[in-house]
Amino acid sequence: MTTPTVKINSGYEMPVLGIGCYILTPDEAENSVYHALKDGYRLIDTANVYMNERGVGRGMKRAIDEGICTREEIFLTTKLWPSEYEDVEAAVEDTLERLDTEYIDLLLLHQSVGNYIAGYQGMERAVEAGKVKSIGLSNFYEVKFQKVLDVAKIKPAVLQNETHPFWQGNDMKEFMKPFGTILEAWFPLGGRDNTKDVFGDATIREIAEAHGKTPAQTVLRWHYQVGNIAIPGSADESEIAENIEIFDFELTEDEMARIAELDGKMRFFTMSEEQQEAQFANYAPDFNNQK
Ligand SMILES: NC(=O)c1ccc[n+]([C@@H]2O[C@H](COP(=O)([O-])OP(=O)(O)OC[C@H]3O[C@@H](n4cnc5c(N)ncnc54)[C@H](OP(=O)(O)O)[C@@H]3O)[C@@H](O)[C@H]2O)c1
Repeated sequence: MTTPTVKINSGYEMPVLGIGCYILTPDEAENSVYHALKDGYRLIDTANVYMNERGVGRGMKRAIDEGICTREEIFLTTKLWPSEYEDVEAAVEDTLERLDTEYIDLLLLHQSVGNYIAGYQGMERAVEAGKVKSIGLSNFYEVKFQKVLDVAKIKPAVLQNETHPFWQGNDMKEFMKPFGTILEAWFPLGGRDNTKDVFGDATIREIAEAHGKTPAQTVLRWHYQVGNIAIPGSADESEIAENIEIFDFELTEDEMARIAELDGKMRFFTMSEEQQEAQFANYAPDFNNQK
């Protein structure tokens, strides 16, 4: 099984489905990345703040050493934390060292707080230096996205925001259309502790049953059909294997319309901009101090 790809505005092909590494311990991240690559995934999503980049690097190396794939076939995403926005050059060197790789396929600003303009311009320089292939944003909405566009030499290739059937992100998709920015879904299944809400939804359950698929597969198939990139997180090998089995069935127009009606039911991440600024902008962990 391999995953389809989509051409992003930087000219690179990006897989439409990947493995998410949020909250995974270094050992779990190594295991999840290794098994995902073995199952045919080629997109990996981590972040400096997840403190598991060394584990991700080990998982990739195991798969590469076993001949499962080459580094060039992997699309590796990581994210800079606000504490790094004013010295992106050093942050990129550190992240490359931790991931044990020569380049990052996609580098994102993790949060729209702190000096994100400096952060974005630093990422543009990292592209010029050949350390990063594509750049984008995470947790940005119209106003701050526009502020980045006002100075950007390189348009964001990807926006990674909370997106699932209960919070579908259609306004941002419309806003980003002129720039060719693709929406990548975090919490694609609703997020840890919330999946029961999404998987327990009557519409999702009925559609899943009609196709003989699980609610997780149904939701991931929906992401694919609406053009989102999805990066479900899991430490469980059988879930990782299950989540890639979504390219052998299709949701009907009527089913897609029924899922469209679920939009707005729930946004799980509810921190205000002020709270994010206070909490994230002042948090500065030692990213190199990880296993
Ligand atoms: N940019 C950001 O600010 C941001 C924020 C959050 C997440 N992310 C990225 O997006 C990725 C996805 O988000 P997420 O991991 O938080 O949430 P998610 O993918 O929506 O949900 C993860 C949860 O779903 C469970 N799960 C996965 N596949 C399943 C299946 N087939 N059946 C039943 N349960 C299943 C996992 O179970 P287990 O408990 O068994 O592992 C885990 O608890 C993250 O890993 C991270 O890479 C980015």
